[in-house]
Amino acid sequence: MSESLSRRTLLEAGAAALGVAALTRTSALPAQAAPQAAVPFAAPPMEEVRIGFVGVGGQGTSHVENLVTMPGVRIVAVCDIDALHAANAAKIITAAGQAPPSLYTRGPTDFLRLCETEDLDLVFTATPWEWHVPVCVAAMRHGKHAATEVPAAVTLEECWQLVEEAEKHRKHCVMMENCNYDRMELMVLNLVRQGVFGEILHAEGGYLHDLREVKFAREGEGLWRRAHATRRNGNLYPTHGLGPVANCLNINRGDSFAFLVSMSGPSRGLQDYAREHFPPDAPERKETYVLGDVNQSLIKTANGRTLLVGHDTNLPRPYSRIHQVQGTRGLFQGYPSRVYVEGRSPEHQWETPDKYLPEFEHPLWRFDQAKNATTGHGGMDFLEDWRLIKCLREGLPTDMNVYDAAALSSVTPLSEWSVANGSRPIDFPDFTRGRWQTTPPWGIVEA
Ligand SMILES: NC(=O)c1ccc[n+]([C@@H]2O[C@H](COP(=O)([O-])OP(=O)(O)OC[C@H]3O[C@@H](n4cnc5c(N)ncnc54)[C@H](O)[C@@H]3O)[C@@H](O)[C@H]2O)c1
Repeated sequence: MSESLSRRTLLEAGAAALGVAALTRTSALPAQAAPQAAVPFAAPPMEEVRIGFVGVGGQGTSHVENLVTMPGVRIVAVCDIDALHAANAAKIITAAGQAPPSLYTRGPTDFLRLCETEDLDLVFTATPWEWHVPVCVAAMRHGKHAATEVPAAVTLEECWQLVEEAEKHRKHCVMMENCNYDRMELMVLNLVRQGVFGEILHAEGGYLHDLREVKFAREGEGLWRRAHATRRNGNLYPTHGLGPVANCLNINRGDSFAFLVSMSGPSRGLQDYAREHFPPDAPERKETYVLGDVNQSLIKTANGRTLLVGHDTNLPRPYSRIHQVQGTRGLFQGYPSRVYVEGRSPEHQWETPDKYLPEFEHPLWRFDQAKNATTGHGGMDFLEDWRLIKCLREGLPTDMNVYDAAALSSVTPLSEWSVANGSRPIDFPDFTRGRWQTTPPWGIVEA
């Protein structure tokens, strides 16, 4: 038995014992199925995109604010368990000159009634993580495209569910990874596409954001996000750091995630914060957390390249997504942004990105509406919403598809498994069932 075979067999046995059933799905496929040229899924074009929005808290409201400014968009229904949030979104929608949306506020599964009742093209959700898949699945089963905030799914089973429902119903299921559209990320993609860094060999990304105050707030994400830290240990939020660099490595489009190993360190930040900010009898003081404050997950790709993904949200620190892309001729590193290109930069010295922007600015960032966008993380959210609507209206494949949603989101359950198993490697499922080999790379798209 070869080393890799014995490792896979071992892992599958371990995974099965842990209920990671989805791993075995790829092995049930014909072993030698020849890859066919993959044509990315596109739906028929539509004049107008009628949207039902589920979950209009912080991030959902920001999407609503963007979407109501776009031609060919109508938000016809809004669902939230908090009637005040739904009413606030309705106010934004009517202030933009649209008809008042139908409101669905009868509890946590009222999105089912929305999906059953409303004539919609797209259901867009920005609910807490555990609701993303139920909402997307309900949408697709009722003939609507789905878009979800990040991460798209929490478990491997859920990742497969998104893939299988999207394929079965022939619907888009897009994970809205806004960081793919940030200015530096798109400039770097353009540099990569133009070969400036040579052959890309390694990348790093992460979500390094002191969220202690947010997690302990008695509103918004404080109502649900901290709870994950009481029962889960791994990389709980991988997609912001990983999405943009995965695009530079053509993940799902010429390369794919093969396996990962993951390590979490001690859990201190939330305990310390609770002790320092709440009286001894507060319920927060009775919570215990298992989420290691710093998680590092290392991914090997099918083509032998490496990606390091960090998660660090419980400690005092300035914000960073790392954003490193490295090739045979040079590299980019974020936070702060800097570039080194052999033969172009002064030897062994970083350059600032303003030396590259005039020549390599991505066309999306030459678009005035993005530069002037005032809501949504400085314009990147506007661009991701704009591109989704454009692709739907023009009948184009979406920039990111259900396979990206599944692959990027699967880092979380795989990292949890690896952390729980002495950081042993674990294989990624191939959600594309081999089509990653022949799917064309994401090009340099226009607004
Ligand atoms: N891409 C980004 O930059 C970014 C930024 C923030 C949050 N997010 C993501 O957006 C999602 C929402 O985060 P947020 O910060 O807006 O949280 P939030 O708590 O502010 O908003 C969540 C909203 O969903 C509602 N809700 C909860 N359960 C529901 C259900 N079953 N049905 C309908 N509505 C329900 C809540 O009442 C609330 O209005 C999360 O997945 C988060 O990871 C992404």
